[in-house]
This record gives sequence, structure tokens and C-alpha cells, in this order.
Amino acid sequence: MEDAGDSARAGGGQHRGAAEPLTNHGVETSLMDSVMNLSREFFNQPIERKQKFSNLIDGKNFQVQGYGTDRVVTQDQILDWSDRLHLKVEPKEEQDLAFWPDHPESFRDVLNEYASRTKRIRDNIIQAMAKLLELDEDYFFNRLNKGPAMARINYYPPCPRPDLVFGVRPHSDGSLLTILLVDRAVGGLQVQRDGKWYNVQTTPHTLLINLGDTMQVMCNGIFRSPVHRVVTNAEKERISLAMFYSVNDEKDIEPAAGLLDENRPARYRKVSVGEFRAGFIGKFSRGERYIDSLKI
Ligand code: OGA
Ligand code: NI
Repeated sequence: MEDAGDSARAGGGQHRGAAEPLTNHGVETSLMDSVMNLSREFFNQPIERKQKFSNLIDGKNFQVQGYGTDRVVTQDQILDWSDRLHLKVEPKEEQDLAFWPDHPESFRDVLNEYASRTKRIRDNIIQAMAKLLELDEDYFFNRLNKGPAMARINYYPPCPRPDLVFGVRPHSDGSLLTILLVDRAVGGLQVQRDGKWYNVQTTPHTLLINLGDTMQVMCNGIFRSPVHRVVTNAEKERISLAMFYSVNDEKDIEPAAGLLDENRPARYRKVSVGEFRAGFIGKFSRGERYIDSLKI
């Protein structure tokens, strides 16, 4: 593990335990390379071609899906130095192809193929975690209950002043679970532990498994969602693909009853998915953690 110190530079550190690297995942390396190369090709197109998939309605009102920059929520917000393409990939029948690039031509098929593989990984992990916690093995799966999967492809252009701005500000993911594929050549992801930042170094074709705040609440804090950020660099572009898995809109988010007793009270209050989502976005834009406001 390498201390990233105050420097905003990505280096060679290794961090295990929070953002966990997964190697034996069964996704072909060629598929991982394709989805990244096609994404890079999309972002490298002229802006007019990308604007066809804009995440702004009438050029001003932000919507979740589409291509664009950081969402502006407050006046004094410092924006992240990244472009992103945000797409709902699950449930399949809710895919809105109007936001899915048609160029490069194979983008849609390849993203769908990749997502079908990460979904399998997701199911294996949440089942293993439920067993580890001695919950019913379908506990998380049943709460997920065909919940949405959002793909977020992040594109970080070189930044002339990496000391001033993040690619993504410090945050923890709101999801149940995130499966992250990072640039094979350019680092930048850092994880915080005990107040210190550590570079996450990946070997090509590993996937990073990140637990989100939903998981932290559901397992009553036994597993924690790591705070992480992305630093920018002046020379190289960077790309990453995050697949966020969240629980179904009709479900509430609360600690699993099987983990609670008189000695282990609930540490988080119950919230609806709608309340969670709205609360999360507001806090994220201010660089705060929503999960802190759920603490009992
Ligand atoms: C995110 C994120 C990390 C990365 O999109 O939530 O943390 O390496 N991305 O791009
Ligand atoms: Ni994240």
C-alpha cells in the first residue's frame, strides 16, 4: 500500500480491503478491451456528435441519462473534471436507446454483452456476502429485485491544473454494489482509509468491486462503502466504466433484521429508495456523505 500523501498524483500503491480487485471473474479480456475502446472512440468524437445524446433537456435541465458533464446542483459547486455517458442498462426493457450511441456501431451490443457478464458477477458476490453474514442467501438478491443497473462511462481529459480540481470528488457510491473497470494504462483512483488517501493500482483486466452506501446500511455497517476519488493529470486522458447496481424503487433501504438484536441495534434509519436517491444527489454535489445523515 502506498500513501498518496497530499499529492494529487496517481502512483503505484496497492490497496486491498475497500475497493477489492477481482481477477478470476470470467469476463474475456477481449470483451473488456472492446467496451473500453468503443467508449473511448465515442468520447473522442466531435462534440456535435456527442450532443445528440445530451443529458440536458433544452440545453439546461439535467436528466439522469445521457452524455454530459457533472451535474450542477448548487451555485458554489466545484465541478468535476470529467465527461460521462450515463445509461440505464437494466432492466433491459427500460433501456432508452435514444441515449445509446449508434456510433461506433457495435457499442450497444458490446455494452449489453459486458453488462450481462457483470450481472452474473454481481449475483455471485451478493450471494456470497449474504452467506458470510449468515443471512438467507437470496437476501440481497430479493431486495435488488430487478433493480436498475446504471452504466456510467467516465472520460477524464488531461487537466492543465490537476492541483485545483478532481476527476471525481471524494464520495462513496450510493449503490448496493459497483463493478468498476478502470483504464488499463492511466491511474487516478484513490481510496481513503483512516483519513489517508491511497492510490488504487490495478493490473489490466481486473475488475474493482466497490460496496455502496446501500450495502453499508443493509448490513448495518459490518461492511463499509469506501470513500474514493479520482485525481486528474496534465498529460493523459483516462477512461473508466462503472456499473452501479441498486435496489428496486419499491423497496426500502434498512439494516437486515437478521443482523440486529438487543446488543446490535440498527445504526441507520430506514428510508425509501426515492428519499435515498434524492438525498444522495444533494449531498454528493456538496461533497458530503448522505449515509451520515441516516445514522441513528
Ligand atoms: C464513480 C467512480 C472511479 C473511476 O464513477 O463513481 O468512483 O476510477 N469512478 O473512474
Ligand atoms: Ni465512485
